[in-house]
Formats: sequence, structure tokens, C-alpha cells
Amino acid sequence: MSMMDQDILKVLYTQEEIAARVKVLGEQMYEDFKGKNPLFVSVLRGAFIFMADIVRACQVKSDVEFIAVSSYGNATTSSGAVQITHDIQQDISGRNLVVIEDILDSGNTLSFLKQYFLTKGAASVAICTLLDKPSRRTKVITADYIGFTVPDEFVVGYGLDYCQKYRNLPYIGVLKPEVYSGE
Ligand code: IMP
Ligand code: MG
Repeated sequence: MSMMDQDILKVLYTQEEIAARVKVLGEQMYEDFKGKNPLFVSVLRGAFIFMADIVRACQVKSDVEFIAVSSYGNATTSSGAVQITHDIQQDISGRNLVVIEDILDSGNTLSFLKQYFLTKGAASVAICTLLDKPSRRTKVITADYIGFTVPDEFVVGYGLDYCQKYRNLPYIGVLKPEVYSGE
């Protein structure tokens, strides 16, 4: 066991389960986007690992972009306001976007981004989220592609962090309550 593993209360999805699900999603998106030259936009930092896996699971001719937003600070609940800290680097007018996100929680981030990309002239904006936590939604938004629907628990791993840590765990798990107890 690594030091990080000792902070995990339970594993929700193993590395193998994630890989199997990513493969299915990639094949589904292949059917939907072949010939459409989609632009995959990863939301940093949480989606960086999912992005790397999903674009290889979806063998369409496409390109990639990265956008960084902040709304969370180091807390486990959203502050509501979304700020772009690193913007995409190209003209997206007329493009079919697929936004790749780690988790759809309150919906603040993705409803903001979807509107932002449409305002910039995207022809379409699809959302592919690894995790969906519908119980916490405050904005009316749904994802087009969902890896797993999760209960209302704070999860880490496979890109998702707590205070910027645990992103490199190969699985998705729930932290032990005592890990939060410095907050
Ligand atoms: P939303 O704007 O509330 O939908 O939150 C989206 C962002 O909050 C995600 O991109 C994550 O970075 C973060 N987030 C929400 N829930 C969790 C969680 O359970 N673990 C880690 N990060 C989370
Ligand atoms: Mg995060």
C-alpha cells in the first residue's frame, strides 16, 4: 500500500472498471463524431487523465484544447463564480466541441463553459463527464456522455483532487473523514 492508499476509505471504481467504461464511451463518441472533426476541450486540471484516455479510445480525426477554470479554491464545495485562468488558443467558430470534464457536480462550471463556447461561435457543444453527481445540481445542465453516476460523496483519484493531491491515484475512491479534519 502506498501512503496515498492509506487515506482512502473505499474504492468506488477500480482502474480496470474505469478503463472498460472509457472504452465504451470512446466507441460511442466515435459513432457520433466520425467525419465531424470534433475539438476535444479538456477542463484543467481534473480532466487531464480522463482526456488522455478518452481521446485514445475515440479514434476520430480531431484536435485537442485545454481550458483552465477556478471556482473551488481548496474547499470541497463550489464557490459559484467561475473564472477562466487559461483560455483555449484557437478560433472555435463552426466547430463541434466535446468538453471533457472530470465531474459534473453543482453544474456551475459546465453551464458557464457551455454558454461561453456557444458565445464564441461553436456549432455544437457536447459534454462528456467521467462522473456525474446529480444530487448536488443547482444549474439545469445534463451531460451527453457519462462515465459513472456517483452518490454525494467527495471522491479523489484518476485526476480528481483534494487540495491538489491524489490526482495520480489510478482508481477513484472516497477519502477517510479524518483526512478533511484540518479544514
Ligand atoms: P461544479 O462546477 O460544482 O459542477 O464542479 C465541478 C468541479 O468541482 C469539478 O471539475 C471538480 O474539479 C470539482 N469537484 C466537484 N466534486 C468533486 C469531488 O467529489 N471530488 C473532487 N473534485 C470535485
Ligand atoms: Mg478540482
